[in-house]
Amino acid sequence: MIMSQKKRTIIEPFKIKIVEPLPMFTRSQRAEFLEIAGNNLFLIPARQVTFDFLTDSGTTAMSANQWGAMMVADESYAGSRSYEKFEKVVQSLTGYEHVIPTHQGRAAEHLLFSTVLKPGQKVPSNNHFDTTRANIEQLGCEAVDLVIDEASQPQLEHPFKGNICLKKLERFCEENIGNIPLGMITVTNNTGGGQPVSIENIRGAAKIYQKYNIPFFIDACRFAENAFFVKQRESEFKNSSVKNIVQTMFSLASGCVVSAKKDGLVNIGGFLALKKGDWVQGLRNRLILTEGFVTYGGLAARDLEALAVGLEEVLDENYLSYRLAVSQYMSDRLNKMGVPTLLPPGGHAVYIDAKKFLPHIPPHEFPGQALACELYLAEGVRSCEIGSVMFGAKKNGEFIPSKLELVRLAFPRRVYTQSHFDYILEGLEQVVEVKDKLKGFAFTYEPPFLKHFTARFKRL
Ligand code: F0G
Repeated sequence: MIMSQKKRTIIEPFKIKIVEPLPMFTRSQRAEFLEIAGNNLFLIPARQVTFDFLTDSGTTAMSANQWGAMMVADESYAGSRSYEKFEKVVQSLTGYEHVIPTHQGRAAEHLLFSTVLKPGQKVPSNNHFDTTRANIEQLGCEAVDLVIDEASQPQLEHPFKGNICLKKLERFCEENIGNIPLGMITVTNNTGGGQPVSIENIRGAAKIYQKYNIPFFIDACRFAENAFFVKQRESEFKNSSVKNIVQTMFSLASGCVVSAKKDGLVNIGGFLALKKGDWVQGLRNRLILTEGFVTYGGLAARDLEALAVGLEEVLDENYLSYRLAVSQYMSDRLNKMGVPTLLPPGGHAVYIDAKKFLPHIPPHEFPGQALACELYLAEGVRSCEIGSVMFGAKKNGEFIPSKLELVRLAFPRRVYTQSHFDYILEGLEQVVEVKDKLKGFAFTYEPPFLKHFTARFKRL
């Protein structure tokens, strides 16, 4: 290990070969941009953002090896050499024989669910990610979250807060026997704050799914970050390699859906992989209808090449140790300066508890939005409100707030340096000083659904 988390400065375990200038502006310029964007950070062009923490998805910096592999890609329509390379890497990582490429995660989800689900059926998980839930529900089925109760307490520390509650799962399977076409677990649990799931828990879930004859799929887009948490926190695995932990995890399930835009270390890509062949013909037929031929699935061969390299590169334990150290560092420093975060920090993101940080702004005035806008004004940081803008609802004219008012800082992989993070933290000290003066927001345009993407706001 080239770095120790406690004593030494966190260093990026790579040299930088290609650089891009950071867009830098003054606060008053940013105030103008924000005004034009209706105080919605989704509507600000990326060229006006200095630090883009909107998502860790598809925002990775690729390595020299990945770019090199792209140059030698074989762009044949059918059975390309690049597909063979990609297939081999996925088979070795997952142990699953059948590999189906897709252009991103939700395409793999859609493919699986539209092939297998029938209206009225139910699909349990720890927490379904939004696109997973939406793809299940648009087929007239129910996506059911069975995460452990500890997950709903933001400040409660738990090593595996992403675990599925095995008692709830057993009961759920018993009560819905015959109506569960497949069961899932998301690693890490993005919806619950990027929290890991233990191998012990995955084993327990696999046993229950097996008992009720339910195929078990892992939503595995952050499989490597989850495995490193397992290595750090689950004593059985403290001497195992990350690759071995990943292989152990996949061996417990029937298949996986993966958005490769996270731990695949690529800007686009995904896949579905299965241990057994029962559904494969149907899945491939549908893939040809919607994504493309079975050996490229909506991707260029160069994307498959980059992914084949990324899936192996991500297992580097120096990289993973650095990766998880960054979110731990940000969380610790934020807490120290009085900014409460969801604990423990996730692998890919830190979630600021805006309700706790700005108690003077009531939920219907969107404390998360107020904080997200101030982070942009003060620092040029783009974050994502995950609170009442995103999940608030109205029932008979009455406002129903989201359970939590969070602001997610999701960290792109290998993009920002330690000095960037320190610089942001310095600026945040000033945000802490003025926090009591921050004002809430009200909609000036409220879209009927998926409000956060296009809503416009005025400052109160
Ligand atoms: N599953 C999980 C757990 C995810 O976090 C995502 C995407 C998907 C599936 C869908 O994958 O975007 O490739 O279609 N999460 C991104 C995010 C969008 O910002 O958290 P996709």
